[in-house]
Amino acid sequence: MAPAHLRSLCLLALYLTTGYGQESRFSGPLKPMTFSIFEGQEHNQIIFQFKAQPPAVTFKLTGETDGIFQIEPDGLLYHTKALDRETRAFHKLEVSALDAKGATVEGPVPITIEVKDINDNQPTFLESKYEGSVRQNSRPGKPFMYVNATDLDDPATPNGQLTYQIVMQLPKVNEVMYFQINNKTGAISLTREGSKELDPIKNPSYNLVVSVKDMGDQAGNSFSDSVPVVITVKENIWKTPEPVQIVENSTDPHPVKITQVRWNEPGAQYSLVEKEKLPRFPFSIDQEGDIYVTQPLDREEKDAYVFYAVAKDEFGKPLAIPLEIFVKVKDINDNPPTCPPTATVFEVQENEGIVSDIGTLIAHDMDEANTVNSVLQYKIVDQIPPYPKEGLFLVQTYTGVFQLAKQSLKKQDSPQYNLTVEVSDNDFKTLCHVQINVIDINDEIPIFKKSDYGNLTLPENTAIGSTILTIQATDADEPFTGSSKILYRITQGDDEGCLRVDTDPQTNAGYVIIKKPLDFETTPIHNIVFQAENPEPLVRGVQYNASSFATFTLFVINVNEAPQFSQHIFQAKVSEDVAKGTQVGNVTAKDPEGLDVSYSLRGDRRSWLKIDPVTGRIFSAAPLDRETESLYRVQVVATEVGGSSLSSTAEFHLMLMDVNDNPPRLAKDYTGLSLCHPLKQPGSLIFEATDDDQLSFRCPQFTFSLGSESLQKDWEVSKINGTYARLSTKHTNFEERVYDIPIRINDGGRPPLERTVSLPVTFCTCTEGSCFRPAGHHPGMPTVGMAVGILLTTFLVIGIILAAAFIQIKKNKGTDNVESAQTSEARPLRT
Ligand SMILES: *[C@@H]1O[C@H](CO)[C@@H](O)[C@H](O)[C@H]1NC(C)=O
Ligand SMILES: *[C@@H]1O[C@H](CO)[C@@H](O)[C@H](O)[C@H]1NC(C)=O
Ligand SMILES: *[C@@H]1O[C@H](CO)[C@@H](O)[C@H](O)[C@H]1NC(C)=O
Ligand SMILES: *[C@@H]1O[C@H](CO)[C@@H](O)[C@H](O)[C@H]1NC(C)=O
Ligand SMILES: *[C@@H]1O[C@H](CO)[C@@H](O)[C@H](O)[C@H]1NC(C)=O
Ligand SMILES: *[C@@H]1O[C@H](CO)[C@@H](O)[C@H](O)[C@H]1NC(C)=O
Ligand SMILES: *[C@@H]1O[C@H](CO)[C@@H](O)[C@H](O)[C@H]1NC(C)=O
Ligand SMILES: *[C@@H]1O[C@H](CO)[C@@H](O)[C@H](O)[C@H]1NC(C)=O
Repeated sequence: MAPAHLRSLCLLALYLTTGYGQESRFSGPLKPMTFSIFEGQEHNQIIFQFKAQPPAVTFKLTGETDGIFQIEPDGLLYHTKALDRETRAFHKLEVSALDAKGATVEGPVPITIEVKDINDNQPTFLESKYEGSVRQNSRPGKPFMYVNATDLDDPATPNGQLTYQIVMQLPKVNEVMYFQINNKTGAISLTREGSKELDPIKNPSYNLVVSVKDMGDQAGNSFSDSVPVVITVKENIWKTPEPVQIVENSTDPHPVKITQVRWNEPGAQYSLVEKEKLPRFPFSIDQEGDIYVTQPLDREEKDAYVFYAVAKDEFGKPLAIPLEIFVKVKDINDNPPTCPPTATVFEVQENEGIVSDIGTLIAHDMDEANTVNSVLQYKIVDQIPPYPKEGLFLVQTYTGVFQLAKQSLKKQDSPQYNLTVEVSDNDFKTLCHVQINVIDINDEIPIFKKSDYGNLTLPENTAIGSTILTIQATDADEPFTGSSKILYRITQGDDEGCLRVDTDPQTNAGYVIIKKPLDFETTPIHNIVFQAENPEPLVRGVQYNASSFATFTLFVINVNEAPQFSQHIFQAKVSEDVAKGTQVGNVTAKDPEGLDVSYSLRGDRRSWLKIDPVTGRIFSAAPLDRETESLYRVQVVATEVGGSSLSSTAEFHLMLMDVNDNPPRLAKDYTGLSLCHPLKQPGSLIFEATDDDQLSFRCPQFTFSLGSESLQKDWEVSKINGTYARLSTKHTNFEERVYDIPIRINDGGRPPLERTVSLPVTFCTCTEGSCFRPAGHHPGMPTVGMAVGILLTTFLVIGIILAAAFIQIKKNKGTDNVESAQTSEARPLRT
């Protein structure tokens, strides 16, 4: 082959190779090198040009050339045929440099040719057909067989990476896949649906087509292969056994085999797991899968058991879902009937009829309900006491309902019966006790011992509270109950309610007692009828009859009695100004015996009244005055005329109504009013008026004026309010003396009353604004007490001098204190 031709291919080959030394990509000195070349390339490809170093002139190639690799004397390394990775993946070559004599001067140097894979091989299943089998209900995802394909290409590249897939399943119902394959390992297992639905009875075998392709996950240029797989479905013998029935209280030697479970293959390890936590768990399993009951069971303790059987592999991993084992305990009649835990007591009223139910005895049997083992029968075997006769009661055989058999009961016969009742099931008998209490009812009426209690005569003034008669009735019902207690009622002859009857709770005796005074004049004869009753109503069909009634006659005899006023207090109201002799009221009294009555007054302290002894009319006998006594109280006396002159009294109250009969007056003593002399400015004084008439119904509105016209040039009176007024001077020119100023006060009443009062005003020489005060003695404001002391001392020293000037007030010396106080109140104005 011509070197020129080789060179023309050189560039292409060098581009397609990798892994050269760093000095140059295409040529260089001889040294260890590695080249990577894809397999399947065209032949005559240049790999590298070694440069000879003198004295070397040529090269030699040895090693695994397989006749494919050659080297030219000028150092050009090339291969003459396509490489095949699957034949040899690495070619270990050696290159030596030779001198002209053919002696090695360099090397041999290792040169490695790595053949890179291309996808030039298709995957192939190792077998042309696969067969396998699976148990129904096998765990989903657990492999039961493998398919296996190979590919000669490099498994480190996608070329040799295989992916498995099920492409077809026959038969296929509703598009549901029962099988799945691991796309990397070729492991075939059941899907969840397959685990549930596979059933050899329905379909004993399936055909799959499984494919394998290379190039891993990459799409595109891949080779593939496919293979049929036949899968046989085998029956699962790991199945829930039928429910088990075990007869309770078994006497067989235990343990007793009751059922079994089997795993599909031998070698499984079996165990039992409780579903509910029990105080004892009387079951076991052996390594054959046989299940035993270990001791006798008691249905009355627990009537059913549920637990699980588990199969595990040798590593303790569950092989399949646990199986539920159901055990029912079958009843035998091993329990006698039992009486109720508390005593059975029925109560029966005396008048209970013979058909009605009087009670039910409920006995129990622990054995299974609604079986002959627990159906009970009742029978009365004894009755205590046996009177009035045997067989008073009957019981219904299957229900335990009791009834009266022959007649109603009477408490008098026996208040209580004790029955013995035989209760039986199929095999056992038990005696139970029933107590029957007879309840009294109010079926007896009270009956009087006497129907007529005769005549009794009493004076009308017989004391209240007196017991005048004892009556007696009896009642045959149970003592000390509302059925036998007796209440006595007076149904006739006592319309006024003068009598009452109290019952003795022990004896039921009735005591007839006077409650209100008897009165001969109203009712001289009482024809009394008593009725005896029970507080409880009588039962239906029983009624009070004549035996519950009794009669009695009470004669009241007359006693002379005092006249009786129609009222205890008589009241009247008149104006205080009624004329003498006016009738102000009247009183009336009647004598029970009808005698005439004479009236008189008692306690007429002011002799204001007189009374007509015959008519009881009362008249005024003098002027009345409300201001003296607003409510005048006297007693009126009514006396029988003739007879025993018995008398009685009542009150007469006369209320006096006010009239305006009092003129106004000064409210207090105003003798100390004073003004300083000489007067520097006009002064004034305040005074108050009052009125003795009843002020409560109006505020007094007095008017004030000067009593004399001639004073008007010096004085002036002005009203402050309804009761106060001011007296003022009109100028300052007054003498040092006392002026008596007449003031007219009108009360504005109806009719108006008026009075002229005299107000004495003293003009005096003032010291520090007050009369009679020595100068400079008391620098501060003197108290009232000190003022009084000063005043008295002053009187003693200069009394005689003053006596002449104040002769008019000398007679009022006893009220000096008042005068002093008033001075400070009605104080003269200071200049
Ligand atoms: C598949 O076959 C190859 C070659 O016989 C073997 O090496 C490999 O372990 C097998 N794989 C499986 C999963 O059986
Ligand atoms: C192979 O299976 C895995 C998980 O089962 C999945 O993630 C992957 O995509 C599958 N590869 C192919 C090529 O189907
Ligand atoms: C078992 O039966 C016998 C009679 O057969 C009885 O005496 C015993 O009480 C029963 N045991 C139980 C737990 O019921
Ligand atoms: C019924 O039985 C009770 C309780 O044993 C007893 O106290 C009572 O006296 C008995 N009555 C009769 C009438 O025997
Ligand atoms: C009671 O009085 C009546 C009338 O006065 C008289 O007829 C009767 O005989 C008297 N009865 C007795 C028991 O005294
Ligand atoms: C009233 O009834 C009682 C029985 O309840 C009877 O013994 C009595 O004779 C009766 N009396 C009359 C007057 O009918
Ligand atoms: C006696 O006073 C009553 C009111 O107490 C009166 O109704 C009657 O008219 C007065 N009789 C005379 C005669 O005044
Ligand atoms: C009337 O006037 C006097 C003096 O000013 C005063 O004390 C009194 O309270 C007054 N009375 C009324 C009812 O206003």
